Amino acid sequence: MTYVSPSILAADFSKLGEEVKAISDAGADFIHIDVMDGHFVPNISFGTCVMKPLRRYTDKPFDVHLMIAPVDPYIKEFAEAGANIITVHPESGAHLHRTLQMIKDLGCKAGVALNPATSVDVLEHVIDMIDLVLVMTVNPGFGGQKFIDLSDKIKDVHKMIKKSGRDIRLEVDGGVTPETAKICRKAGADMLVAGTAIFKTEDYKEAIEAIRG
Ligand code: DX5
Ligand code: ZN
Repeated sequence: MTYVSPSILAADFSKLGEEVKAISDAGADFIHIDVMDGHFVPNISFGTCVMKPLRRYTDKPFDVHLMIAPVDPYIKEFAEAGANIITVHPESGAHLHRTLQMIKDLGCKAGVALNPATSVDVLEHVIDMIDLVLVMTVNPGFGGQKFIDLSDKIKDVHKMIKKSGRDIRLEVDGGVTPETAKICRKAGADMLVAGTAIFKTEDYKEAIEAIRG
């Protein structure tokens, strides 16, 4: 089973509630929420004041990808605003273990996001406490970028997850299209994020199913 998590970063922000409802009705498994601060990444998106009201438009879990630094002061706010999964970058704080612990203590699932240049080694000592690994196949900050083929890295993470024996999602984010989704699934990904390849099409259901494969 491949789960699809459409990124609302590529949706029409002038009618975000309707977009979230439409993507849920079209079969999205999660709603991917990209939070950017113009500091950790060179772009600003939105925060909890935009995310929280979207809860009324869907029952699907909110898959929140925090690209902000420092991240710790905002974890609670996102949990209280309806996040189900909170994923952080190891570079966004000094103590990754503490950040993940905080997410778990707030009752959310915890994820670790790896930039293209970030080694999988960072997972070694936290694998027992995480629920998701997000492999970035673009440098974070913008939608619509070209996919970087990191098949070997995805395979390595897949092996680490298998070895842990835990139920951990392997999510790939960035430049995912029906074509690149095949590469990701083949390497072991079981959860795919797509913004442009879903929201910039006419038929969301067809786009989601094309990525699911
Ligand atoms: C990039 C974000 C991605 C992005 C994906 O920083 O984390 O989630 O929105 O967009 P596409 O699918 O257009 O590459
Ligand atoms: Zn993302």
